[in-house]
Amino acid sequence: MSNSGKMKIAINSKILVPALAAVLLYGCKAGGENQGLEYAPQMYHSVPYEGLTQITDEEEGTWLSTREDEKGEFFNSNVNNPHRMNMREPVANTVPRNKQGYLPYRLETDELEEAALTRNPVTLNDEVLKDGEALYEQYCTACHGAKGEGDGKVGMIIGGVANLTGGAYVGLPEGHIFHVITKGKGRMGAHGSQIPQESRWKIVHYVKQEIQGGVGAQTAEAAPEVTETEISAN
Ligand code: HEC
Repeated sequence: MSNSGKMKIAINSKILVPALAAVLLYGCKAGGENQGLEYAPQMYHSVPYEGLTQITDEEEGTWLSTREDEKGEFFNSNVNNPHRMNMREPVANTVPRNKQGYLPYRLETDELEEAALTRNPVTLNDEVLKDGEALYEQYCTACHGAKGEGDGKVGMIIGGVANLTGGAYVGLPEGHIFHVITKGKGRMGAHGSQIPQESRWKIVHYVKQEIQGGVGAQTAEAAPEVTETEISAN
């Protein structure tokens, strides 16, 4: 190869490298409503509405838009809502409940004493006990054993599983048991993310009534903090 050929490569890279760097750096200039340079932008912008997006410029993304309303591809805010979010703001002075009508459970892992005061909102009946039994079998038997004696197959291996039929465990308040299922305790992991709230309370009924023979159970009258009427009144 001749000398001039080498020169060309050297000059080209002298121009190309800074040019490439400039483009890349320009792309980094993101902030506020500027997302910077996007490679394959349709991968970043969701087609379904997103709760919090506020892209209010109807022209945004016009250059690649295929929308029938001829607005920009990325325009997706709702002009009728506060801050132009797609999500509605919650009604003032209200707390959201889940589909089953329950308030969020906000106690922290170490707040066992407070948890003990929580009442079982599920009214006890045969059907609830049957559900509770099935759920107990599904989630607890492996460690605590079918009768709660701490002799489940997995329990034998991990060791230190509480015998729910013995000693001070028998008198545990229902709110305490609910809390342990939800948040875990010591060597037992949290099950709150796997078992819906109402099912956890059903398990509590089963543990209290069937495994612990009703010792320390709440009386039916005193129980419901969240009653059916209260749910429908909201
Ligand atoms: C992976 C094994 C495992 C599973 C599954 C499990 N537990 Fe436990 N559980 C333990 C262990 C271990 C302890 C002892 C915790 C400690 O004190 O370190 C325990 C303790 C408890 C206690 C006593 C809490 C206390 O205050 O000392 C209760 C009540 C309990 N479990 C209920 C349940 C229920 C109900 C389920 C099913 C939803 C369940 N556990 C599922 C392992 C398990």
